[in-house]
Amino acid sequence: MDEIAKFAVGLDVGTENVRAVVATVGKDGSMSVVGYNEGPNSGMRKGVVANLTGPAESIDRMLGEVERMSGFEVNSAYVSINGAHVMCTRAEGMIAVGAEDHEISDDDLARVEQAAVVGRVPANRDILDVLPLSYTLDGQGGIKDPLGMTGSRLELKASVLSALAPNSLNLRKATEGARVTAEKLVPSVVAAARAVLTEKQMENGVAIIDLGSATTSVAIYEEGDLQYVGVLPVGAHNITNDLAIMLKIDTEIAEDIKHRFVAKNLAGEEPEGDIVIRRNREELAFSRAEVNQIVEDRLSEIFDGIRKELKAAKYDRRLPEGVVLVGGGAKLKDIAVYAREALEASIKIGLPKKLGGVADAIEKPEYATAVGLAMMAAAESGQAVQAKTKSKSHKSAGKKSGVLGKFFKKF
Ligand SMILES: Nc1ncnc2c1ncn2[C@@H]1O[C@H](COP(=O)(O)OP(=O)(O)OP(=O)(O)O)[C@@H](O)[C@H]1O
Ligand SMILES: [Mg+2]
Repeated sequence: MDEIAKFAVGLDVGTENVRAVVATVGKDGSMSVVGYNEGPNSGMRKGVVANLTGPAESIDRMLGEVERMSGFEVNSAYVSINGAHVMCTRAEGMIAVGAEDHEISDDDLARVEQAAVVGRVPANRDILDVLPLSYTLDGQGGIKDPLGMTGSRLELKASVLSALAPNSLNLRKATEGARVTAEKLVPSVVAAARAVLTEKQMENGVAIIDLGSATTSVAIYEEGDLQYVGVLPVGAHNITNDLAIMLKIDTEIAEDIKHRFVAKNLAGEEPEGDIVIRRNREELAFSRAEVNQIVEDRLSEIFDGIRKELKAAKYDRRLPEGVVLVGGGAKLKDIAVYAREALEASIKIGLPKKLGGVADAIEKPEYATAVGLAMMAAAESGQAVQAKTKSKSHKSAGKKSGVLGKFFKKF
């Protein structure tokens, strides 16, 4: 890569985990990962900020290591937003652009976007993005990019991503609490799609599913465009809770069982023997068949929900490129085998596209959202290279009484 032009930062604020990726962006647009980290989050419910200090402290603590690693001070980022309130709707707009020999300008494109959304999105919703699907110029439809074309009447069909305004405002406040300005909020699954899907998949038709801790999100792409987004308020942590309740064990042991043993036999054959966990020199044995039944019951609920989303979007069994799984839940053993049967589609585990630098360690399905956010920031925005000012960097390790406490007094 030649000279560094700017830095791009992706910040994934998940219900259970916060993750960040910092990359340098060369003048030629090439990215190189220079910092990343993950850490536990708190104060979130089903993808939504439930209190401001929890996520602010978690982000602040996690970013300390990212800044040490990259030597870059994170002041702004592309940030993930999640939860069942996140929606993708269709909108249409039309404007007159003037004389017949008028060439369509950037201004016209901005105006027709405005015309498509103004008054069509409820006041309590925040528009996150307007993604043009196609334009019609003087009655001729199917135009992808009308810039510079000649015409007098411009129409737009677009996908509009929106979120409940209080939820997006609270997320912004939470990141501000860690002294990070959210430049743009992007639905987690849409960001993940950017990191793992190929142009060919998005052209032919593909679904991406983010199996998070407390949410499961679906996004569908066809003809290169986002067609549908749906978020279910259930995720991989529900499996842990089920195991804890049914087996009368604490969630730590339940999590251990889930990670190391469970899905092995989801492929079908009757599991045998026990799962043995060692704790404080004690041996705890659990029936493999019983464990697998608990996990399968919850997975079947999650995948029924996904199938309903695919049906609602009219893409059920109509996805030539199949389904790509990302998020921490995509690491469940044999989840691909299970998903293939449940969705009757080909399944891949989505790993973020290869970027240069220290990217090896983040080529994991749970990093898809953070990587995708950094890629979007690199393409659309990015922070200029700045001088480091020690006093502001994220090293407070979330000291309650410090900067955060003072910050939240403002609210
Ligand atoms: N190796 C593994 N095997 C099974 N499950 C795993 C594994 N690693 C992580 N998980 C599960 O992934 C989940 C966390 O996923 P992730 O970090 O993507 O969630 P999140 O982004 O914090 O949540 P959400 O997207 O719902 O807001 C946890 O339930 C965890 O148990
Ligand atoms: Mg997530």
